[in-house]
Amino acid sequence: MIILGIETTCDETGAAVLEQKKDKIIILSNVVASSASLQAKYGGIIPEQAAREQIKSIIPVIETALNASRLTLNDINAIAVAYGPGLIGSLLVGVETAKTLAYVWNKPLIPVNHLIGHFYANWISHPPNFPCIGLLVSGGHTDLILFTDHGKYKYLGGTRDDAAGECFDKCARLLGLSYPGGPEISKLAQKGKDTYQLPRPMINDGWDFSFSGLKTAVANLINTPEVKKSDYTSGVKGNLAASIQAAIVDVLVTKTIKAAKKYKVKQIILGGGVAANQELARKLKVQSEKLKVKLHIPPVNLCTDNAAMIAAAAFFIKPAKDPLKLQADPSLALKS
Ligand code: KG4
Ligand code: ZN
Repeated sequence: MIILGIETTCDETGAAVLEQKKDKIIILSNVVASSASLQAKYGGIIPEQAAREQIKSIIPVIETALNASRLTLNDINAIAVAYGPGLIGSLLVGVETAKTLAYVWNKPLIPVNHLIGHFYANWISHPPNFPCIGLLVSGGHTDLILFTDHGKYKYLGGTRDDAAGECFDKCARLLGLSYPGGPEISKLAQKGKDTYQLPRPMINDGWDFSFSGLKTAVANLINTPEVKKSDYTSGVKGNLAASIQAAIVDVLVTKTIKAAKKYKVKQIILGGGVAANQELARKLKVQSEKLKVKLHIPPVNLCTDNAAMIAAAAFFIKPAKDPLKLQADPSLALKS
């Protein structure tokens, strides 16, 4: 079984060809084009601009992915597309392209929830077992779920305001770092220490998350005379970055481990851009080992948005009954 995956939910344009052989899912090609240089210039994503770039790159990216896999559309068994959540203009590019290709080439079309796709990046190397706790940490989402089977999960909680990635991005902006802020903060944090007492919002409070108060605390902290006077010298910026990272990581690790204990699972799976954070991986690994729970984190290039994860998820999802009726859904969620 060979699937072509298409991903255009945010600013990236991705296409990937994956093959399932017995129980193994392997990547034959995985291509991602991003408008990162434009984002860095404007300090974030401009939805209209992202969609315009994606219209230009979608066909070349699909062609490159097919060429790299040494296959043609003829050899593909199904086409999978992330149909939400995301930016409407961006989603339309991927969804309409996938519908057109499926129609013209007479292939089944498999709609994939982008958020579920993030988790399936874990199925590419060493597939996890059910039940497992899933922590999704991306730029727009922070969700905790209990996965019991393919397509079956119980939603435990999610963020009430900012997502973990959004908190990294907004704090990075406050520190004058470029977008996306997560990798910038984690790089800077290596030179600093967790010295500032930042809040750990809702750390012992249910399964929901809240990160906007942490961002406000950082904004207040950098305006204190002590930090202002330092002019970010003597490693102050590194310490700020390390403190921000520690606060976010603490909340994510504490809740995930608590959920694993409560639901007595033996596996934890991570997904989303923030799963690329090495400090999160390190702390979660220590705690999981104590609990004798196996931790699955995708390789860094499969944590951030990519089409391989969309194709991987599609091996476990039924094709659309009426492909031409598939609609992009910008507010598709995990919570039902
Ligand atoms: O999953 P993703 O690529 O896109 C969305 O679906 O949102 O996640 C992007 C987010 C951004 O907020 C970015 O700052 C964050 O992932 N991120 C990281 C790291 N790499 C990416 N956050 C912390 N540490 C990282 N190493
Ligand atoms: Zn994503």
